[in-house]
Amino acid sequence: MAENSSLHYNVYTPENSTGINRDEILDFLFKHLDEYGDKREDIAKCVDYALSAAEGKGGAVLEAREDGKVVGALILNNTGMSGYIPENILVYVAVHSNQRGKGVGKKLVQLATETVSGSIALHVEPQNPARHLYEKMGFTNKYLEYRLQR
Ligand SMILES: CC(C)(COP(=O)(O)OP(=O)(O)OC[C@H]1O[C@@H](n2cnc3c(N)ncnc32)[C@H](O)[C@@H]1OP(=O)(O)O)[C@@H](O)C(=O)NCCC(=O)NCCS
Repeated sequence: MAENSSLHYNVYTPENSTGINRDEILDFLFKHLDEYGDKREDIAKCVDYALSAAEGKGGAVLEAREDGKVVGALILNNTGMSGYIPENILVYVAVHSNQRGKGVGKKLVQLATETVSGSIALHVEPQNPARHLYEKMGFTNKYLEYRLQR
């Protein structure tokens, strides 16, 4: 999907993951999620879940590329539930540190909302500036998230 001559967005799903460079996306997210990231093997689990055709799994992997290099990525996981729990979770979104503030994050979130049906949940640390992006894209925070960490 061409955006302009050098910036392209690709959307991969369980039905259409032809041409994905999984390791490049993993390396990109591991590096550019900054302090909001996870271990590489955990990001890998999320990507593999998104591309799984197994019952109740799936989602989408979105990337922005400029001059052939990944400059942004977003991962959605389907929850397999509906109604009482949102259908999708936006797990990761990151834009290359040199490319921030140019609308790439916004475009990735917009494409993600167009790719899946149903509601999208996400969590974000209170001090993360990514909150601005989510709020601009219409996400609201009615709930506090609590976890029993194990
Ligand atoms: C969050 C992130 C993906 C935003 O990507 P981006 O390409 O810079 O965002 P955009 O340029 O599309 O900005 C979208 C909107 O959010 C606002 N915004 C983005 N970052 C902001 C910041 N640090 N402070 C204030 N507003 C900000 C922009 O002003 C813009 O609003 P506008 O359209 O009214 O101008 C990027 O900062 C990033 O990769 N951060 C590190 C990883 C991370 O924290 N990910 C989220 C947790 S998984």
